[in-house]
Amino acid sequence: MINSEEIRKIFINFFQNRGHRWVPSSSLIPENDSSVLLTTAGMQQFKDYFIGKKDALNDFGTRRLISIQKCFRTTDIDEIGDERHLTFFEMLGNFSFGPLGSDDPSDYSFSGYFKNSAIFWAYEFLNKELGLRIDYVTIFKGENKIPYDDTSYQIWKKIGFDDKNIKAFGREDNFWGPTGKEGPCGPTTEIYINNLEVWNLVFNEYYQNQEGKLNKLELPGVDTGMGFERLMKIVQNTETIFETDLFEPLRSDIISKKPDISIRDLRIILDHLRGSVFLIADGIYPSNLDRGYILRRILRRLMLKLIKNNLINYIESFVLDIKNKFSSLYENLNNYDKIINVIFTEFKGFEKTLIRGLDKFDKIVKYNDNKELVEKLFMMYTSYGLPLDISLEILRERNIFLTEKDILFFEELFKKHQQVSRGL
Ligand code: GLY
Repeated sequence: MINSEEIRKIFINFFQNRGHRWVPSSSLIPENDSSVLLTTAGMQQFKDYFIGKKDALNDFGTRRLISIQKCFRTTDIDEIGDERHLTFFEMLGNFSFGPLGSDDPSDYSFSGYFKNSAIFWAYEFLNKELGLRIDYVTIFKGENKIPYDDTSYQIWKKIGFDDKNIKAFGREDNFWGPTGKEGPCGPTTEIYINNLEVWNLVFNEYYQNQEGKLNKLELPGVDTGMGFERLMKIVQNTETIFETDLFEPLRSDIISKKPDISIRDLRIILDHLRGSVFLIADGIYPSNLDRGYILRRILRRLMLKLIKNNLINYIESFVLDIKNKFSSLYENLNNYDKIINVIFTEFKGFEKTLIRGLDKFDKIVKYNDNKELVEKLFMMYTSYGLPLDISLEILRERNIFLTEKDILFFEELFKKHQQVSRGL
């Protein structure tokens, strides 16, 4: 079966043969984008090329680039454990920065390209190179004075797609960006295989300013993103992303040590371990602020799951699995001692709280209604330091879910408590 290493090579070769230069992934700490905490997309390190501040031809000898970018997204952090969400993932992408050349897919030069080449190559890569069948594609239907993307429609038709396999959606679905408060953005065409959105082709025609106003970019660009784990799920025909080789040998290692682990716990450990290791390798330390807090949250949830499954003593072996899998691609994973130290220090600092919290949980969290439940969770926080997200996870394991109203009530209690502590 074809593995992820081979797919990386096929992707790189395919686009290198078409005038692209491969640029290594940037750090998870954005170097070029202070408006976001973490790198969430491949285009972030290239923002200055899209807006014409820098010239790709000068810096790379071509207006065509590709990358396999480490990304970390927090929007779905509470969904981790289901079959498709991830915090940390890798994204394959090809990029073009104007001025445009012929936009003919048989033009393998170094000039900029646009919709025609981008769509044709995406189709060629998936269909011809990997032998995959695209179910359907989506295009931008036009909304809020941004016109319908007839060009993409015509290109898909020319390739051979029927109207029923070209679906049009509005801004919510088929318009991407910017990352953070301002930046390049534009209509998209998205490719679906087995009902999974695999590849998002963004045509950066606009710049959204801080006020949310869209202005036409002087020169349009191409920014594509293909989730590697999703692609591998399709290529390797696995049940979910977690059975692909991108999670090996970690997954097998965990299962060999705890064969009856629940699927949800296994997925949380897989996601949070990879995420923590990559965040730490890029220089983030757990703290109560910004990126540090994101790391702290996932490390603490990870610890809960490792303790519950009697896996905490294997953490070194698990981190080693990740290092072995990825360090030839991401050299800073070789700082194994540092990564382990950061994890151990955080675990040590939280251990007492967690163990005492788990011990007290059932004795204290007895309730008749949700209001009382929230009050008890608040007590777990104020008296025993157990963070709400950990309490929510413990409840979730028992199929107990809080509503948005309950969370607001918790926040209200928290505010009142702060005012009392400050003597207000
Ligand atoms: N920048 C394209 C994507 O993240 O999907």
